[in-house]
Amino acid sequence: MVKPKVFVTRAIPQAGLVRLQDVCELTVWPDELPPPYETLRAQAAQADGLLCLLTDRIDAALIADCTRLKVISQMAVGYDNIDIAAATARGLPVGNTPGVLTETTADLAFTLLLAAARRISEGERYVRAGKWQTWIPTLLMGQDIHGATLAIIGMGRIGMAVAQRASGFNMRVIYVNPRPVEAAAARGWQRRTLEQALAEADFVSLHTPLNAATRYLINAAALARMKPTCVLVNTARGAVVDPAALYEALKDGRIAAAALDVTEPEPLPAAHPLLTLDNCLIVPHIASSSVATRNRMATMAADNLAAGLRGERLPYCANPAVYSA
Ligand code: GLV
Repeated sequence: MVKPKVFVTRAIPQAGLVRLQDVCELTVWPDELPPPYETLRAQAAQADGLLCLLTDRIDAALIADCTRLKVISQMAVGYDNIDIAAATARGLPVGNTPGVLTETTADLAFTLLLAAARRISEGERYVRAGKWQTWIPTLLMGQDIHGATLAIIGMGRIGMAVAQRASGFNMRVIYVNPRPVEAAAARGWQRRTLEQALAEADFVSLHTPLNAATRYLINAAALARMKPTCVLVNTARGAVVDPAALYEALKDGRIAAAALDVTEPEPLPAAHPLLTLDNCLIVPHIASSSVATRNRMATMAADNLAAGLRGERLPYCANPAVYSA
């Protein structure tokens, strides 16, 4: 029997690849950097299945070219890099990996919150630079976490998991969400408008998807509403924050600090102004990167892909409308 052809746009964890290697003819892009767009398009045009990452642009033109494709499976929960409307219009199911990375991502969001509040990377740089001479009464004074108010912007699965961690640290939680969240109300976490939340919070943590409504949601006006002691954490998508406005706010001390797992652009060039600031902690989009979670994401993506190739409903489908058309 002829095996379906599958293009995998990067070496994903082996746990995922082993599920596919016997049932598909696999081509795995070998480089650390993503395939250039034209290469991706040419490879996908010859494939029955595409397993991709959030760094691959899967636009309407690519989808139109790939008449042979039966399924797109993305190893990520977010899928703002994929033209979902074009895929749905073509009846092409798109898989993603929701749920599995919730707790690991929340762990990193909270790690960033703690590290930025207590100026951990500044302290580490100080020690490594040989500057530690004595105990200084005013050295690296940061923000208290206990008793502070955390505003969660986007109270979905990850937002809820971060709020739960915050409760363990005796923080007060408020949230912003298009709709009230019953489970949040049950915990006494109150809903606010974005304007109210920004003004009230000591910490703001972003957990929205990236779409037209959330692009540059945290712009100069939003930053101006925050307290000068406020710490901003972004583990959502870089473009939820206007980077130029964030740079100005951090440089002028209009907010205390930011901690970013995601940036705009991504990756952030080494010469980017944000990297000149001591009060900006940046890590390279690693929120879901624990061994267990990345392995589980890879197996979920492989299972989605295999189901699509067999013509079955994807276990985790980002565009279920394909099945009702
Ligand atoms: C990571 O950012 C993801 O969307 O899974």
